[in-house]
Amino acid sequence: MCGIVAIIGKHRVAPLLVDALKRLEYRGYDSAGVATLQDGMLDRRRAEGKLVNLEKVLAENPLGGTIGIGHTRWATHGAPTENNAHPHFCEGVAVVHNGIIENFSEIRDQLTSAGAHFSTETDTEVIAQLLASLLRSGKTPKEAMQATLSSLKGAYALAVLFEGENEQIMGARNGPPLAIGHGDGEMFIGSDAIALSPFTDDITYLEDGDWAILNRDHVEIFNADGNTVQRPRSKASSAYAQVEKGNYRHFMEKEIYEQPEVISHTLTHYIDFATGKVREVSSQLDFADIDSLKIAACGSAYLAGQFGKNWLERYARLPVEIDVASEFRYREMPLPGRQAALFVSQSGETADTLASLRYCKNNGLRIGSIVNVRESTIARESDVVFPTLAGPEIGVASTKALTCQMSVFAALAIGAGRARNTLSEAEEKDMVRSLSEVPRITGSVLHQIQPQLEILSRELSKFHNVLYLGRGNNYTLALEGALKLKEISYIHAEAYAAGELKHGPIALIDENMPVIVIAPHDRHFEKTVSNMQEVAARGGRIIFITDENGARASNLETMATIVLPNVDEFIMPLIFMLPIQLLAYHTAVFMGTDVDQPRNLAKSVTVE
Ligand code: AGP
Repeated sequence: MCGIVAIIGKHRVAPLLVDALKRLEYRGYDSAGVATLQDGMLDRRRAEGKLVNLEKVLAENPLGGTIGIGHTRWATHGAPTENNAHPHFCEGVAVVHNGIIENFSEIRDQLTSAGAHFSTETDTEVIAQLLASLLRSGKTPKEAMQATLSSLKGAYALAVLFEGENEQIMGARNGPPLAIGHGDGEMFIGSDAIALSPFTDDITYLEDGDWAILNRDHVEIFNADGNTVQRPRSKASSAYAQVEKGNYRHFMEKEIYEQPEVISHTLTHYIDFATGKVREVSSQLDFADIDSLKIAACGSAYLAGQFGKNWLERYARLPVEIDVASEFRYREMPLPGRQAALFVSQSGETADTLASLRYCKNNGLRIGSIVNVRESTIARESDVVFPTLAGPEIGVASTKALTCQMSVFAALAIGAGRARNTLSEAEEKDMVRSLSEVPRITGSVLHQIQPQLEILSRELSKFHNVLYLGRGNNYTLALEGALKLKEISYIHAEAYAAGELKHGPIALIDENMPVIVIAPHDRHFEKTVSNMQEVAARGGRIIFITDENGARASNLETMATIVLPNVDEFIMPLIFMLPIQLLAYHTAVFMGTDVDQPRNLAKSVTVE
């Protein structure tokens, strides 16, 4: 997704804008630009590709001024060229925008017929053109801003400069988040608190429909009707200031190795390991009072929900319906009886997940959310928030956030089981004890399997298609494995329920498509081994991910066998996620892809 920054400050602002944009790189982008106001005049520098290209342009042709706006663009309308890069100018107005203006063609046509000349293929340019036309008609910048916002349909987070207005920046939000940073004699705007953390942790988040006028020492916030409103100021997490790679090559690698620690932090928030019981928070979604639960999410967060469904149904006997949010939001499903809904999102800003939440909220359901950003929109619109304590996740491919989401679901399954009397106190203690071992086991497994996986990944990188197989939670692991491999190595990967192999996919099996089989020695093991034999009989090459008991019980010849320690079935998905992540990571590293910011991907998909 695009990233926005704006500063009205005390120092030369162009380098500060670029530094802030670097903290938004994790969102994914393909061009960038900055604009500043100096002595009332606007000027800008833009570049295709990474920020290093923009820095070169600025080094050759510096920008002055202590007030400016900056942008990293993830192309939606118009190719990722310099000309389409933000900021967009029109007659003394400069705009940076994150989102999609759905009625931009209509506005463009209206303005063109009134004599406007457009110079880009972007939807954003209509905002600058509309503001300029309203200023020409005699409106003040504030009047022009309010009139423009009321004309726009769609999602936007904006920052705007007006020539001649050296002492003000305007911002607006409808959909994608926008944070205002309060400094000492300077003010900031950013897509999130991470971008602003070098300047301030004193943050105000705009609500949908809000817009704001910032001066050097204060901000005035208006709602869609133009009435002044107050929004709370909060302290951003200090973790945002420490967002660095440390000794790791990539954020993704760092975040994989942070999992033992952040899983421990997250579990402790929900479980009192001293008493062996889940804390009150784990049953705050009235599990005893509902007949069923809806879950909606996207990508890896959806798969966390799938683990949650499996655990809640098995241990709490709670019927759960789950769907990807982009389908859920349009199904207009009936929601009879006593239901609750749970939404899973690392960013807390995913558009489809937010729309699904609003559908359920409008139908009177109690809303819970599992999020990694507590100030996010999804969190703010929930009745109950279940935070993951993963810390900022910068790599576009979700790793620690996913296992923390899974950890929350594991705790909620116990809490729901106790609330619905489907789990005894003794069973609760046993399950809590298993969870208490996860940080230690994940820590040792990561170091144990890393060398083998690094070597195996070189083999895997030679193939163009990979099939993942599993049953039950191992099928969900297979789905995540296929997603991870696809999104960071660009190898086509597909996951199938192992029991479905004979219903079609077995036709694909030959020596050119490795089959990664996830099969610890659990209740699905024997049946999955049969599937492996079917694959081997057809010349298929197997990568077998199992545990010590499984390795002993199977004498199949494989391309590789990754052996994990024997653990309780309840916590297997958390342990077996590690080879899934490391295999994808090392394959991508070996292939030289942009691991932290894979092509075409964004960290938070805040538009449909
Ligand atoms: C996972 O590796 C992907 N980056 C993507 O599928 C992600 O999980 C999805 O976009 C959901 O994002 P969210 O958790 O911020 O809602």
